[in-house]
Amino acid sequence: MPLPDSFLQELVNRNPIEDVASSYVRTKQRGRTSVGLCPFHGEKTPSFTLYPETNSFYCFGCGAGGDVITFIKKIENLSYIDAVRFLSDRVGIKMPDDKTDDTVSKLRMRILEANRDAARFFNQTLYSPEGRVGLEYYYSRGYTDQTIRRFGLGYAPDSYYTLVNEMHKLGYKDEELVAAFLTYRSKKSPDKVYDIFRNRVIIPIINVHGNVIAFGGRVLDDSKPKYLNTSDTLVYKKTNGLFALNFAKSSKDNSLILCEGYMDVIALHQAGFTNAVAALGTSFTEEHARLAARYANEAILVFDSDAAGQKGTRRAIALLRQTGMHIRIVNIPGGKDPDDFIKLYGADRFKLLLDRSSNDIEYQLIELARLHPLDTADGRVSYLREASILLSRLSSPIERDVYAGRLSAELSVSKDAILEQVERYKKSDIRKYKKMELSQAVRSSEDMVKKINPQAGSNIRASHAEEGLLGLLILHPDYITAVSERLPPDTMITDFNRKLYEYLLKRHEQGLIIELVFLSAEYDADEMAYISRMVQKAREGIHSPEQAVEYVNVIHNEHKLLGLNDPEQLSDDKIKEMLDAMRAQKK
Ligand code: CTP
Ligand code: MN
Repeated sequence: MPLPDSFLQELVNRNPIEDVASSYVRTKQRGRTSVGLCPFHGEKTPSFTLYPETNSFYCFGCGAGGDVITFIKKIENLSYIDAVRFLSDRVGIKMPDDKTDDTVSKLRMRILEANRDAARFFNQTLYSPEGRVGLEYYYSRGYTDQTIRRFGLGYAPDSYYTLVNEMHKLGYKDEELVAAFLTYRSKKSPDKVYDIFRNRVIIPIINVHGNVIAFGGRVLDDSKPKYLNTSDTLVYKKTNGLFALNFAKSSKDNSLILCEGYMDVIALHQAGFTNAVAALGTSFTEEHARLAARYANEAILVFDSDAAGQKGTRRAIALLRQTGMHIRIVNIPGGKDPDDFIKLYGADRFKLLLDRSSNDIEYQLIELARLHPLDTADGRVSYLREASILLSRLSSPIERDVYAGRLSAELSVSKDAILEQVERYKKSDIRKYKKMELSQAVRSSEDMVKKINPQAGSNIRASHAEEGLLGLLILHPDYITAVSERLPPDTMITDFNRKLYEYLLKRHEQGLIIELVFLSAEYDADEMAYISRMVQKAREGIHSPEQAVEYVNVIHNEHKLLGLNDPEQLSDDKIKEMLDAMRAQKK
């Protein structure tokens, strides 16, 4: 049972794309549209565009596009029905009773409920006699009761059954608990389930919507593994969650402190640095970088000072650079992590470290200087070359000037000569960059065409006209009557386009509104992207009845060329009649 149009219409009216997208992307107004960095692919020049008039989005870089429901599907990784539910909840309207198969969304809800109940149980246990060891552990790390409450910290008892029994009492079924990664099935007797988290202090992972989506559990001693984390479930994907982002997102700093561990984050928050977050049980990924860029302009990296931490820092710098975030790096002296440092020296000293932190250019210059023998002429030349390339990537001329000045003093080379070289690299860099972004865009849209409309490649003229026409019809449904009388669906050559055409005609015949949002019930995110591309082309092209007729002509001709069943040829009279009809409609 599809959702009624009236409901969908209200849903999109109450969820303007600009409002919805603003929680994920920062955009700037540009004419009637707004643009920002695409949340679906890494880019430095904004090509993600919002169209308030059609309540839709389109990215010129990766080709992602569609209505507001498709946007939420993609960004929250939800099914159609869950995305609709998400948007309904967002504005507090009730979903009509739908009979769609929602087994997966029901299970997803049950997992979230189970996680919340488990978190409550772990927290209550912490304050029971059984949990005393856990509480002592937290106290020994210097955590206050207030911190424990704020983060909802807990303790999992040293038992295989306590949580399972508790959850059974609350009505949870075994398969729900297994799907939530709270229990596992015994291999020997698969009808039995056991607690996964045992004798560990428990840190709930809460997403930006306030749902408990996963847990991390730490042993109380030195046994292994030190941490046990929830594996990916229906509600959790570890490569795109940042611990404590639920708190950090509302920090006013416009910066995020990125560190390596849960305990670092908690210690930092307790010390007043409430913009600290961490990637969880995994190394920093491109998805983490994009997520971070949604909430702040600046990332301050405070990884451990060991070799692994330095490697992680370099990796994170490379990924964060892609998002255009400003980056600073804090080096913690003495092989410590932030948690150790704060415990030893206090919050004020940590604040000093933050204030003195270098930006990533400084960090990379130091690294470069280490790699090149500066006591030889060759070494200095190659250092200078690499350093100039680095400076050429700085967008601020002031920053370029400052660092060129430093290099000049350091190497006794004139500042002007350095700046000149930087300028040369800058020019070639911009060219290279533009070319790269463009070729990526071309590649991704070619891949998309092949997947969605495999016949387009061998019917270039026809598919071009079909898509031009379809885009036009979506923007100007008032053309549909006239076009449909002259272009029977069978005339369309490629299957995907014909089906879309038929769908538009059907809605039109039934007197239903044509808008992207109604298509998203039928088409998945990639197909919506493909359709959005048609709309985009129409937007950029000529919107006129003549253009529509031109497309209809081309389709008829191509049809004939292919020798397909006798198409209805358009006589001059017919064409005139059609134009008149469309022009009349427009008034
Ligand atoms: N980690 C993990 N599994 C492990 C070890 C580490 O998932 N077996 C992840 C955890 O998210 C941890 C982070 O990597 O928070 C950093 O690890 P580490 O530096 O070893 O832990 P700390 O955060 O310093 O923890 P502690 O201070 O309790 O030793
Ligand atoms: Mn630590």
